[in-house]
Amino acid sequence: MLNGKKIVLGVTGSIAAYKAAFLCRALIKRGAEVQIVITPAGKEFITPATLSALTQKPVVSEFFTANDGTWHSHVDLGLWADLMLIAPATASTIGKMANGIADNMLITTYLSMKAPVFIAPAMDLDMYAHPSTQSNLEKLKSYGNYIIEPTTGFLASSLEGKGRMEEPDAIVAVLEAYFEKKTQLSKKKILITAGPTYEKLDPVRYISNYSSGKMGFALAEVCAERGAEVFLVSGPVQLTTNHPAIKRIDVESAEEMRQAATELFPNMDAGILCAAVADYKPAGFSEKKIKRNGEILNLELVPNPDIAAGLGKMKRCDQVLAGFALETDNAVENALQKLQKKNLDFIVLNSLQDEGAGFQVDTNKISILTAKGEKTDFPLKQKKAVAEDIVDVLLSL
Ligand code: PMT
Repeated sequence: MLNGKKIVLGVTGSIAAYKAAFLCRALIKRGAEVQIVITPAGKEFITPATLSALTQKPVVSEFFTANDGTWHSHVDLGLWADLMLIAPATASTIGKMANGIADNMLITTYLSMKAPVFIAPAMDLDMYAHPSTQSNLEKLKSYGNYIIEPTTGFLASSLEGKGRMEEPDAIVAVLEAYFEKKTQLSKKKILITAGPTYEKLDPVRYISNYSSGKMGFALAEVCAERGAEVFLVSGPVQLTTNHPAIKRIDVESAEEMRQAATELFPNMDAGILCAAVADYKPAGFSEKKIKRNGEILNLELVPNPDIAAGLGKMKRCDQVLAGFALETDNAVENALQKLQKKNLDFIVLNSLQDEGAGFQVDTNKISILTAKGEKTDFPLKQKKAVAEDIVDVLLSL
């Protein structure tokens, strides 16, 4: 999995810097090309000569070479790498990364990095437990970085606790698993519906719901990150999509969503239907704004097409179809009925009874019910992590 991968290994001023030599060797043994970027403090713990001998490349540390003024471009490194690993990462470096304090080559490289960044903290137990370190790590996670948790054991301070940098072999295993995940869905095409639908009433009004699209967009990102070609049919939302493997099709009404999804589905390997489709639409559209006249206004609503049920009917045995159930009561019973009625392979149940779940929030709490009768409950997580769980189930099918 690491063969041919270009890895920037950032080394900072911790006693665990000696482990960078073992890390470097383990990465190179697996075929990776490693470029070391070391902080000034890092050089106090391990010499650039050792690291350069292992990588067969000059170690980068300063912005300029002292004798001839050659400029080392952190931007080029950011474009070159398939992955950046900072191991060991001290509290100081973590703080600078979290707050954009670009006062050394390693931090500027980090800030320019286009590839995913993995951080393996190493420090004394009290430094690690300190709220400022923990909030910096949370910040880094929220920027999409991956933290490789330190382990518990004897520390250089002769104290015992959590703060030991993870062992090189375990770090390498994390990186291998990351690259493996990236190919799990390669050559697969996945349809995802997301967001609400707008059902027009007159030129200024519509019927809709509170869906922000966050859950569906998180699913699209995770599928793309695992190598799939994603077709994201989205109702009106404020979100953007950056991943090149996501093709976005913007629609407004349930009928437009049905048309787009139905056209795409025969060429898909799977569909995940996360959109909050309006079940009803106004029976007619008033060309002019409906005027207020003080009287009760009765609206006639007619059912919208059930997109999931339509795709369930079309589904071939080589395709997987998943839906969502958003419930307020009798959650499991209702979800199971939807699973069967719409001929889904599994359904993701989220309930508005659970705090932090459902519309608009960044988190969700789900249960997955499969057509085979299994039910798995998951704790409250960020929507991206929830999407990872859903895609794991999709893969298992
Ligand atoms: O967008 P967010 O703010 O992040 O919120 C996420 C979410 C709450 C919208 C999402 O997690 C969710 O639950 N989506 C489904 C909402 C919904 O409409 O649930 P439902 O139980 O009414 O529908 C069941 C399934 O049938 C869904 O897969 C739905 O997409 C589909 N459906 C429903 C009606 C319809 N006319 N056509 C459909 O395809």
